[in-house]
Amino acid sequence: MKVLVTGGAGYIGSHTVKELLKQKHQVIILDNFSSGHQELVCGGHLVRGDLRSEQDLRQVFQTFQVEAVMHFASLIQVGESYTDPQKYYCHNLFSSLNLLKIMLEFGVKRLIFSSSAAVYGQPQQIPITEEHPVNPINPYGATKYMVERVLSDYDRAYGLKYVSLRYFNAAGADPDGQLGELHKPETHLIPNIIQHLLGQNPGFQVFGNDFPTPDGTAIRDYIHVTDLARAHLKALERIMAGSSSQIINLGSAKGYSVLEVIRTAEKVTGKTVSLKFGPRRPGDVPVLLASSQKAESWLGWGREFSDLEFIVKTAWQWHQRH
Ligand code: UFG
Repeated sequence: MKVLVTGGAGYIGSHTVKELLKQKHQVIILDNFSSGHQELVCGGHLVRGDLRSEQDLRQVFQTFQVEAVMHFASLIQVGESYTDPQKYYCHNLFSSLNLLKIMLEFGVKRLIFSSSAAVYGQPQQIPITEEHPVNPINPYGATKYMVERVLSDYDRAYGLKYVSLRYFNAAGADPDGQLGELHKPETHLIPNIIQHLLGQNPGFQVFGNDFPTPDGTAIRDYIHVTDLARAHLKALERIMAGSSSQIINLGSAKGYSVLEVIRTAEKVTGKTVSLKFGPRRPGDVPVLLASSQKAESWLGWGREFSDLEFIVKTAWQWHQRH
């Protein structure tokens, strides 16, 4: 199949491109390199362009007979979305509307969308199922939820079929060592710990040790990026086979506290973190944990790489080389 991958030079996008190519799909990557990286382009046809430009989009759809779209391109910093919401509504919401407009213009009606656990806001019960009420507490999560609303209306009105994948904590790196996580600035826990262990992040802090959890630090559901990538291929297969639109959580259904992640990193690397505790980061919730029942039953998805030690090991291998 001919699949357009927006943000295919980013972290999750690049890992998914690799899986698509392995399955012999033809891939067109559209990326403006605002946060993508040339070294994460692992094949396919690369187009430098911006989703906010109808002209850029039309050119792609005119040149390639795109059959389906995987839409990863997005800004992802929760903190920045508070201080500069316009940037987020413009890049995440307006871009998506533009993409959908041109897709419909060219009769392309199959989409896999990168959503986030951020749509749930403060969880009311754990594990979080897809029926959990949606109440985003930051502009980043709001943009993801707004796109989901648009998708549901476009399905009803125009027959657009989509799978919205709500990621929990994507982590780890390509087991072959070719691809990995490269965010600037980096805000995520595992790369921050690793950079600290490599001597590049002396100020590393644990944000909060007064959460209502067994060790006082926040619990998250870490899912290996290659497992995430493979879920996209399963979703594409289902939607191309004529399935109805769906929303699906992607997590490992297992939670680890920040201190447990640090201990795992120390075990994997044989190095010691110099522990410093700081205040909670605004908006951080005590526990985020996915129910992965629907991903398993509907997608037929299983996790191969999401053991925490393996996640940290693959991330460590990648960061040592970068
Ligand atoms: N943390 C630290 N120190 C750091 C970085 C993180 O203690 O240097 C803590 C955070 O406070 C949090 C946990 O480690 O408790 C995980 O933090 P991440 O930044 O790695 O991930 P988040 O859970 O904050 O964010 C993830 C996704 C977001 C999504 C969010 C909400 O990366 O895109 O879940 O659902 F919005």
